[in-house]
Amino acid sequence: MRHIALLGATGSIGRSTLDLISRHPDRYRASILASGSRVDALVALCVTHRPDHAVIADEAAFGALKAALASAGLPTRAHAGDDALCGLVAGDGCDTVVGAIVGAAGLRSTLAAAGAGKRLLLANKESVVMAGDLLRQAVQASGSELLPVDSEHNALFQCLPHPAAAPASSVRRLILTASGGPFRGRPREALARVTPAEACQHPNWSMGRKISVDSATLMNKGLEVIEAGWLFDVEVDRIEVVVHPQSIVHSLVDYVDGSMLAQLGNPDMRTAIAYGLAWPDRIDAGVAALDLVAASSLQFEAPDNEAFPALGLAFDAARQGVAATTVLNAANEVAVSAFLQGQIGFLRIADVIEGTLQHDVGAAGGDLAERLELDARARRMAADLVRKWPTEREGAVR
Ligand SMILES: NC(=O)c1ccc[n+]([C@@H]2O[C@H](COP(=O)([O-])OP(=O)(O)OC[C@H]3O[C@@H](n4cnc5c(N)ncnc54)[C@H](OP(=O)(O)O)[C@@H]3O)[C@@H](O)[C@H]2O)c1
Repeated sequence: MRHIALLGATGSIGRSTLDLISRHPDRYRASILASGSRVDALVALCVTHRPDHAVIADEAAFGALKAALASAGLPTRAHAGDDALCGLVAGDGCDTVVGAIVGAAGLRSTLAAAGAGKRLLLANKESVVMAGDLLRQAVQASGSELLPVDSEHNALFQCLPHPAAAPASSVRRLILTASGGPFRGRPREALARVTPAEACQHPNWSMGRKISVDSATLMNKGLEVIEAGWLFDVEVDRIEVVVHPQSIVHSLVDYVDGSMLAQLGNPDMRTAIAYGLAWPDRIDAGVAALDLVAASSLQFEAPDNEAFPALGLAFDAARQGVAATTVLNAANEVAVSAFLQGQIGFLRIADVIEGTLQHDVGAAGGDLAERLELDARARRMAADLVRKWPTEREGAVR
């Protein structure tokens, strides 16, 4: 029986993970459920899954969580804040951690799980983008099993030899597929006035709002390029992105002998999560078998770097190193949040990121505290740029 700490339990990945746990009660139990600020949603999950611990990140919500668990008659203990979460993640109450908090807020708990030698199913790509070096050190020191949940990285993990059966030199390229998002095929000038609601209407996947906007700008793919570099120890210039609107081929490995291995499946995150939960075994994920005849034709095309400049910014940052990718991630989080709140237009997201990257906000440093300071400085810089733009005529296209 695996005892699972599910971080980001109330989100999209959280829901998919709990569905899998419910399908296999003989194999998995949610022992720790954690979320950000929505007490009611977290307590509703506790009623169904009866974890030992429930953790809310918002410390002001501790009283409400404690009272709601008690009034529901649950034995679940209430906790609040990131320190409490990191302590629980590293403790004896779980052997497996699903890292599905959105954004840099997931970094400390990701590193806590890796440092404590847990099996870590990682969806929180932002923590790899800003601290892939620290994550790798923690995994190597503790012997943690790091299993990627991002569907593209999960696909690559499935297509790469294990454990290191063939040398890295046998791989020519990693190819990440991208759906192209809701605005695929539109020219840059048509994107100036798109709304948050349109940006969150992903054609193939149902996801949280932040990653949905990242998919619309193609920054999601940029973050994934950086993530793949760290997870598979491949330099960025051997990673390519190809747009594949059907989201059936989840990514590919191109080997030097001319073989190309791909992982295919219906677009449902339960496949990737199930693979991480059961690895090296496989379990029924409740996902329908892929019908190749119904899928019929699979298209592949090059990304439009002019309409979607965020992807190029991510490649550039990856070439510069972890300080630049930390700044890129921080600026993206600030800009996406501003877009979702109606403070800036869609095209300004990439402008804010580019503008922040042009400022010298300092070095990455070699430890977590320094990395978080760099993240904070980059956020302040990006927020300054956001404040500058609403005065402009929105819709102006460079
Ligand atoms: N959704 C997908 O298909 C998918 C695919 C690949 C990778 N990912 C990655 O997985 C992560 C989660 O994505 P998602 O789509 O599941 O997001 P989501 O639906 O927005 O859920 C986010 C989760 O994080 C929690 N949270 C927010 N701020 C927090 C904080 N400061 N501390 C602790 N928890 C916090 C939320 O809690 P509240 O509900 O209380 O706010 C919620 O449980 C992201 O990094 C995303 O890039 C997602």
